[in-house]
Amino acid sequence: MTTTTPSSVGSGLDRVEGLDKVTGRARYAFEYSPRDLAYAVPVQAAVARGEIRAVDVDAVLKRPGVIAAIWYGNAPRLASDDGGELAVLQSPRVAYRGQYIGVVVAETLQDAREAARLVRVEYAAERHDVELRADHPGLYRPEVVNPDFPADVEQGDPDAALAAAPIVVDAVYSTPAEHNNPMEPHATVAAWDGDGLTLHDSNQGASTVRDTVAALFGMPPANVRVISPHVGGGFGSKGIPHPHVVLAALAAKQVGRPVKLAVTRQQMFAVTGYRTPTIQRVRLGADAGGRLTAIVHEAFEQSSTIKEFAEQTTVPTRMMYAAPDRRTTHRLVRLDVPTPSWMRAPGETPGMFALESAMDELAIACGLDPVELRIRNEPDTDPESGLPFSSRNLVACLREGARRFGWAGRDPAPGVRRRGRLLVGTGVAASTYPVYRRPSRASARAEPDGRFTVRIAAADIGTGARTVLTQIAADALRAPVDRVRVEIGDSALPTAALAGGSMGTASWGTAVVRACEALLEELDRRGGDLPAGGVEADADTTEEIRGQRRFARHAFGAQFAEVGVDVDTGETRVLRLLGVFAAGRIVNPKTARSQFVGGMTMGLSMALLEESVMDREFGDYLNHDLAQYHVAACADVRDIEALWVEEDDPHLNPMGSKGIGEIGIVGTAAAIANAVHHATGVRIRDLPIRLDKLVR
Ligand code: MOS
Repeated sequence: MTTTTPSSVGSGLDRVEGLDKVTGRARYAFEYSPRDLAYAVPVQAAVARGEIRAVDVDAVLKRPGVIAAIWYGNAPRLASDDGGELAVLQSPRVAYRGQYIGVVVAETLQDAREAARLVRVEYAAERHDVELRADHPGLYRPEVVNPDFPADVEQGDPDAALAAAPIVVDAVYSTPAEHNNPMEPHATVAAWDGDGLTLHDSNQGASTVRDTVAALFGMPPANVRVISPHVGGGFGSKGIPHPHVVLAALAAKQVGRPVKLAVTRQQMFAVTGYRTPTIQRVRLGADAGGRLTAIVHEAFEQSSTIKEFAEQTTVPTRMMYAAPDRRTTHRLVRLDVPTPSWMRAPGETPGMFALESAMDELAIACGLDPVELRIRNEPDTDPESGLPFSSRNLVACLREGARRFGWAGRDPAPGVRRRGRLLVGTGVAASTYPVYRRPSRASARAEPDGRFTVRIAAADIGTGARTVLTQIAADALRAPVDRVRVEIGDSALPTAALAGGSMGTASWGTAVVRACEALLEELDRRGGDLPAGGVEADADTTEEIRGQRRFARHAFGAQFAEVGVDVDTGETRVLRLLGVFAAGRIVNPKTARSQFVGGMTMGLSMALLEESVMDREFGDYLNHDLAQYHVAACADVRDIEALWVEEDDPHLNPMGSKGIGEIGIVGTAAAIANAVHHATGVRIRDLPIRLDKLVR
């Protein structure tokens, strides 16, 4: 049991549940069908603002198979009601088009869908306002931005520094609303048993869903069990429970039967979150040598009238580059729109598009190579806090990327390289993402047969979490991976942080290592005497994480892109994409590469395709499916590679790892936009880079 085995961390172990997935044995939330099941289909608001006067319930109940039609007028009251997104059917108010205002429960999905479609609702509609503008009179400064950063930070006198700077870039960038669209839409199967509630649910953290739902229904968390062994992607949209989870539980309670509710792709565009659109003004002042003297980054974003969601758009700008005088601000306006939510490196992704586009503009204004410009502005310590970086290898990423990409000798002149019908150009941008870690619990058990079982309510949303936790546990137990089984995806397991903020592996891995260490100690103490029932030990990392030394902890990366733009049509193709990352120790190169490349593909998608189009009169996003909301497909990705530099950072966690789930998307869109400028001479500051913007 204590013999040394080759390290599993660092090896490209195949996904431990891979066979289950390709053979269909892995079951997703919608595939659970308890006995006596009924189907719930939501009714969505058909106005963007107003009040519901009446719902013709009697007509609905006459329809075949219908068991119940529930709306504000006959819904049970929730125990806690903050008036936010989860206060489902607790008010007659309509806060946005598509909001859940009712639910029909029927014997079959078909019956429920048909009846829900025919529900007659009488509204008192009011004028709506759904347009984000940088001069909106309703703009205000939120108390904090996500998760708990100050909205504004100012150091020195940036206005004076800008006025005195020999070189100034002053530009406005914008990013559209974007929708997460994981492969598996959200789904919940809710079943009550007396005071107990069981949810089969697709989410990024079973413990989080349990605690939220328990509070809403006024129950102890132990009365709620959330089971989610397999999840088909989330990208932030499953980080917190959305209203459908509450609606399913509420409907099941009302009809006294288990209820299944699947959110359709079309419904997802209103009820499962999205990335706020942003308008960002960036001003950079520099000396003739390209050294930044001032950075001012101002962001304007939206939230709904029922919940404040303040994205941290300019937060990465606070630690990215050295400059003595700086200001970063966030302004928010509450509109008659769905509440924005977490999506694929929220904050960093739109924020770094603006900053890294502006850095490219500054490089041109200074006549400097954009790689060199970034290296010249590398800070020694975190410019905002003054804290040392636990490790910061942006320069190594830029240098290694430049070498691999063939950057040396690049002609900076824009719009001069023709290859057949294409104008060709290259661009670079930096990436960053913070290193978070949250308290978690885990247990480790030595089974009588010599195997080990590790339990933690972690979530594998397709990232490989189950696999890397198996590797981490195997090393901590000094056992081969095939003797370790990791159980995750169930709130009955030890409580754990959610899979979000790229903190899963760091948070869960710490708890798993500590539980395994405690188990080995216990086995040592017993001198190899294993009782018939096995031995178990557990760990809680609350104290360890609270007591960790203060550092500026961030992952970094460099993104390089080559694009070809058709001279006649303006159609842009990304010919090559290379990302080089510094993210601590890479636990599994196979799943890590997949994470990086996936993120970069999302960045390509953001650069060229993704855009939720708001219709001012209609009051909603017009594109509601994947035919109209375009995401990158295989044919859009020609040549993509992700690499990493060795990084040995002792200030992180027992694995020495940084999160890798989100950094891949950060900076990609800017690298592509910068390459488009190099190719064509046209600077696109409003994403996506559509062909009509290039040919006009
Ligand atoms: Mo991620 S957008 O924090 O799930």
